[in-house]
Amino acid sequence: MILDSKAEIAKIDKSNACGVLEALPEDCEKALRNADELKLSYKKPKRILIAGMGGSAIGGDLARDWLKDRISAQIEVYRGYELPRYADADTLVILASYSGNTEETIGAYEDAKKKNCMMAVVTSGGELAKMALKDNVPLVLIAKGFMPRFAISHLFISIAVVLEKTGLIKAKEEISSTILALKSLREELKRDTPVGMNEAKQLAMRIGERIPTIYGFGPFKAVAKRIKTQFNENAKVPAKWEFFPELTHNEIVCYESELSKLLFPIFIRDKAESNKYSARINIAKEIISEKCETAEIYARGDTKLAKMLSVMYIGDFASVYIAILRKTDPTPIKEIERIKNALKGVKD
Ligand code: PA5
Repeated sequence: MILDSKAEIAKIDKSNACGVLEALPEDCEKALRNADELKLSYKKPKRILIAGMGGSAIGGDLARDWLKDRISAQIEVYRGYELPRYADADTLVILASYSGNTEETIGAYEDAKKKNCMMAVVTSGGELAKMALKDNVPLVLIAKGFMPRFAISHLFISIAVVLEKTGLIKAKEEISSTILALKSLREELKRDTPVGMNEAKQLAMRIGERIPTIYGFGPFKAVAKRIKTQFNENAKVPAKWEFFPELTHNEIVCYESELSKLLFPIFIRDKAESNKYSARINIAKEIISEKCETAEIYARGDTKLAKMLSVMYIGDFASVYIAILRKTDPTPIKEIERIKNALKGVKD
């Protein structure tokens, strides 16, 4: 079995995506120490906008899902060049771009500056780092050498720590306990753990040639989206995500079609989910199971963050194991680079 042979995996996984995933808990520790050095002396913001794209924006989505029920400020993730009209001097804009060279995020930086917003930058370098240093904008300079999506620990934790430093929330303690939960989960998901005891390997094998379709709810929306994008970028396969309760008002009808047999629905579950969610997910699962094989990923851990990141960790590993099964190197993303290169120098 290829997934149980580290040597076979290494032949396909040329840039060691598996090793990078296995090091995620230690990267979280480094990210926490690094971000904690930031000095921030803004007044408490009324609104928070996290601006970024792709693998950098998802760190903002995770922070929003985690903190939205404990933060008094409005919090939104913004993907684009120009900020919404309501961005003003009472708005903190966190510009997150791993490379620091993403043109949409640079556009958002310029717009935030024009609108006199409070600003903070999270990046590993590039233009954004230069701009922040020149303008004296608080900067969290994160570790270099990752693909943006594999720097999720650095991006997410830096954003969360910036939010803690506004005085609006406490984040660090729950992050620390979550890191311990991730260390223990890693033992189950890593390459050395054979298929029979490894939920991520089993999931990858069950999906096979079908389209992974991740269904989240409540705190697991960004996680569902993250897993979908990891299937896209690591395994290079089509994937979908939706969330409860919304999907029971539209998506569910697609299971009348024979085409839905192409899908492999994966339900994110939490043993502590409310009865309302539980009943809705169960009835939807019953309908969907008439057409498709399905799977569930149960959240681990005791805190909201541990639950969110445990599901993400299982999904991230599964996406890389699918890549291995398909004999595809998980790391390169040539189409994203092709588009970025083609757009260099295009002016408005
Ligand atoms: O996963 C990826 O590589 C992309 O989604 C990037 O994150 C996205 O293109 C934005 O680039 P950056 O994260 O460097 O701002």
